[in-house]
Amino acid sequence: MNKVGIIGQGHVGATTSLVMAQRGKVGKIVIVDKNNAKAKSEQADLQDQIALLSTDTEIEVQDYNAEQWSKLKDLDIIIFCPGKISALLEHGGERDYELNLTSQMVHEIAPKIKASGFSGIIVTITNPCDVIARMLQEEIGVKTSQVIGTGTGLETARMHHAVGNATGHNYHDIQGYVLGEHGDKMFPAWSTVQVASQAINHFQLDLDKLAEDITDGGYTIFNGKHFTNNGIATWVNLIVEAILNDARIAMPVSAYDPNLKLYIGQVAIVRQTGIDEIVDLALNDHEQKAYQEAAQAIQANYNKVH
Ligand SMILES: NC(=O)c1ccc[n+]([C@@H]2O[C@H](COP(=O)([O-])OP(=O)(O)OC[C@H]3O[C@@H](n4cnc5c(N)ncnc54)[C@H](O)[C@@H]3O)[C@@H](O)[C@H]2O)c1
Repeated sequence: MNKVGIIGQGHVGATTSLVMAQRGKVGKIVIVDKNNAKAKSEQADLQDQIALLSTDTEIEVQDYNAEQWSKLKDLDIIIFCPGKISALLEHGGERDYELNLTSQMVHEIAPKIKASGFSGIIVTITNPCDVIARMLQEEIGVKTSQVIGTGTGLETARMHHAVGNATGHNYHDIQGYVLGEHGDKMFPAWSTVQVASQAINHFQLDLDKLAEDITDGGYTIFNGKHFTNNGIATWVNLIVEAILNDARIAMPVSAYDPNLKLYIGQVAIVRQTGIDEIVDLALNDHEQKAYQEAAQAIQANYNKVH
């Protein structure tokens, strides 16, 4: 039976559990939250949902205060999504403002994951995503290939939608990636983008304006509802399923760059063992510069908490 743990049952964690139970690809979900009562409520609510579905998923709660997080030991995957999204309200949704809080959460949770004997794959959502991925890898002490950040997957989906709208094509006919930081230093790698197999420069588009819309998209969502959940919950489920199915599929995730020695949004092959390899994209000079700038921003954030 496939088993997945979800640490953090806020807007993101709860929606991730909901989508996971509905997709029915996971046999057991173990949920954990510092607020034990909330985790138990989510368990009961999910069980109501499951009884109405044709799928079959067991839901367990790992007691946050237990000496040993023994329910984590045999999991295939842990999704890491604790946070405090309300902390961003006074800061216009800027992800970096969570760093002081979420870096502490890593210090608190990583030893418990390590002590549980867990040896699977960690998929991390918590912001700033690229920095937290690196901290988890370092503090749990697993291989770099065993940690995957959700990276620029959402922005890539948003780009497909925006380019589809701008060209009148279906968004499923758009290929290519947004790369770099999951933050303000993300960038659409236009040289990778195709519209129904035609290069993007075949179309008369204001690419700078499109890039701005893609970067601002997360803020647009945050400004109205003060959290984001649906897109990320779906994206993380696709990563989970790629791992469980040993899919060997190229995904825009935050993966370890051995040259830069940090996690950053790039295209990587995802399979059962985590990141199998990085896809060596032929980025143009402008894109290579943007990638380096994203790496500098990620490193600067990492330095703030080290
Ligand atoms: N990578 C992405 O694309 C992406 C997208 C959306 C949100 N996020 C990030 O995901 C994180 C969660 O967002 P949210 O909206 O669910 O936040 P939230 O504030 O709604 O929920 C956070 C949950 O974490 C729990 N928590 C806090 N400290 C904990 C700890 N030490 N151990 C276990 N649980 C703990 C809280 O009790 C709460 O239930 C945030 O960092 C947010 O910025 C990332």
